[in-house]
Amino acid sequence: MDKLIKKAAQDLALAKNVVALTGAGISVESGIPPFRGKGGLWEKIDPMEYAHINSFMKDPVTVWNVLLKDMKEIIDKAVPNKAHKGLARLEELKKLTTIITQNVDGLHQLAGNSDVIEFHGNFVWQRCMKCNSRCKTSEVDLSCIPPKCTCGGIYRPDCVFFGEMIDPDHLVRSRQAASACDIMLVIGTSVIVEPAAYMPVIAKENGAKIIEINPEKTPLTNSISDYIVMGTAGHTLQNIVNQLEILIES
Ligand code: OAD
Repeated sequence: MDKLIKKAAQDLALAKNVVALTGAGISVESGIPPFRGKGGLWEKIDPMEYAHINSFMKDPVTVWNVLLKDMKEIIDKAVPNKAHKGLARLEELKKLTTIITQNVDGLHQLAGNSDVIEFHGNFVWQRCMKCNSRCKTSEVDLSCIPPKCTCGGIYRPDCVFFGEMIDPDHLVRSRQAASACDIMLVIGTSVIVEPAAYMPVIAKENGAKIIEINPEKTPLTNSISDYIVMGTAGHTLQNIVNQLEILIES
């Protein structure tokens, strides 16, 4: 057993308020590709060209065809993996209180977590740009692109495009959660997109321990992280939670 997996379980055993900051890497084992690195979405398409709000407003057909159609197909099929389930178990064990996620796939809620701040919104819902009514993405008819509401307005995902503001309520709640936790788990994120990347800094400044789970080092590693458990999220979290349960029972 990896020494750091045991250490993480011991730290969690002592913790009272754990917050997780998650990114695309936690959903890789659910079949959703990350944004950066090998096989990343932004290697194939330029986010400024296809994921910017100005591009969507100018040419929703192209953005739906190049980016959103594929996202819908991938996210419609995705189910929570061992990492999402591990975080749900940490909530059941009364350790984890809040997840701040940069992901838009809704998998944390499907796994059973109850307090999930969707920092970049979500792709589970579409919103009509004319009448503002919402429709589940899985129920949107793609036989006509862009998909439209019964009122004739174009649907857009309920997530944050580049060039759009983070919901101020999400920002406030994330800052509160980050400053109140005693451990922040930073899982499957490259921690380079602000303001989400600032949450571990807030946590650290308020005395929390920062534990990363990632197969690669990030800008936090060797700076504000206390340590990084190097490995894929599913396998690593499952082992940490198993160890924690042994400690709780003993
Ligand atoms: P990135 O694609 O930038 O980073 C994914 C991270 O996951 C990397 O650090 C990988 O090493 C790690 N990783 C890969 N496979 C993993 C696995 N199986 N288990 C654990 N970790 C793994 O994704 P984010 O950090 O989420 O924003 O990106 C942040 C934001 O940038 C996204 O929310 C998105 C993007 O542009 C918007 O679209 C607004």
